[in-house]
Amino acid sequence: MATRKIITNQVAIMGAGPAGLMLSHLLATSGIDSTVIEVRSHKDISETVRAGILEHGTVNMLVDSGISDRVLRDGDRHDGIELRFNGESHRIDFKELVGESVWLYPQTDVFLDLAARRKADGGDVRYSVTDTAVHDIEGKPRVWFTDADGVEYEIQADFVVGADGSRSHCRFQIPEAHRKWYFHEYPFAWFGILAEAPHSADELIYANSANGFALISQRTESVQRMYFQCDSKENVADWDDDRIWAEFRSRVNGNGFELKEGPVIDKMVLPFRSFVHTPMRHGNLFLAGDAAHTVPPTGAKGLNLAIHDVKVLFEGLDSYFRSGSTQLLDSFSSRALDRVWKAQQFSYWMTTMLHTPAEADDFSRARQLGELNSVVSSRHGMAYLAEAYTGWPSP
Ligand code: DHB
Repeated sequence: MATRKIITNQVAIMGAGPAGLMLSHLLATSGIDSTVIEVRSHKDISETVRAGILEHGTVNMLVDSGISDRVLRDGDRHDGIELRFNGESHRIDFKELVGESVWLYPQTDVFLDLAARRKADGGDVRYSVTDTAVHDIEGKPRVWFTDADGVEYEIQADFVVGADGSRSHCRFQIPEAHRKWYFHEYPFAWFGILAEAPHSADELIYANSANGFALISQRTESVQRMYFQCDSKENVADWDDDRIWAEFRSRVNGNGFELKEGPVIDKMVLPFRSFVHTPMRHGNLFLAGDAAHTVPPTGAKGLNLAIHDVKVLFEGLDSYFRSGSTQLLDSFSSRALDRVWKAQQFSYWMTTMLHTPAEADDFSRARQLGELNSVVSSRHGMAYLAEAYTGWPSP
């Protein structure tokens, strides 16, 4: 049997999504070496369509840590959103309510910026690896993998970070007796499209209607991203452009507002649920991002939570390697989970407030409009939404 090539470093990172790459970059700025391994190819990750909203804290991390300031040039700052229900739009003015904004900048671009920075800085990032395995997380961890050329490696590290996404293998390393999983299923999914059309509005529109939810988002001047609530078993092949636009019109148009339509160039069904794995650490394994939690997409918290996990984890690792103190590593899980549960609440609330259950009776429909009205008619209600959407201050 061929012997494995040994890589010795401080941190082994499973997953080259935004969480893994951001952590590896932050560690490098402190002189801490890491190897990142990823089962997908760079091309595959960069061609996957993902969500598009960054909290101001996420933008600051990209810019201030030296990844790139492209988000400030190519991204669009949004100072508010529109909630649309009963045929009327209500603006939530983030800037005025909480003094903050978000940026429309797709996750794919975040990935490209992070991957390019790691490459330019000589970071050790291996894509398209196979046969990954993690050993000894309660002692001195070892990670096995085979690289794209078929060479077998063993990483010997002080810590392993599982940033390996919603289908994480790392979380299964944590013994059942030491983990608790929280699940919530929703009776909805999203039908997502990319369409060649101009912007329909300056800002994102979150629309509630008796026919269900719709979200009108954006990508570029000529390509738009939009979603409508559907059944999780919906088949994209059953939806041609005419049927898709009729569905959007029935949920969004009215009172002088008309969507700008065009050819649909991509369509997909996105099922969703809430999931939290606790704690986010066991021994010398830490989990970050989707590996530890999933939120429904309403409110665009997924990527932002992952970046926050990494911020907190970096502080712990940096402090440990500088001073030997484990204090911040010991508090990582509870500090990260504090924000995870706030985001679970916010995403759950936005989802249930804006979506229409198939079996909604007259009471639930009228109550839902009462809830929406109570938000848009109250400065406090709107400020809660604005603070959560733009991102809570990090303690
Ligand atoms: C987008 C996705 C979201 O889930 C959201 O809340 C806002 C925007 C998007 O893909 O543009």
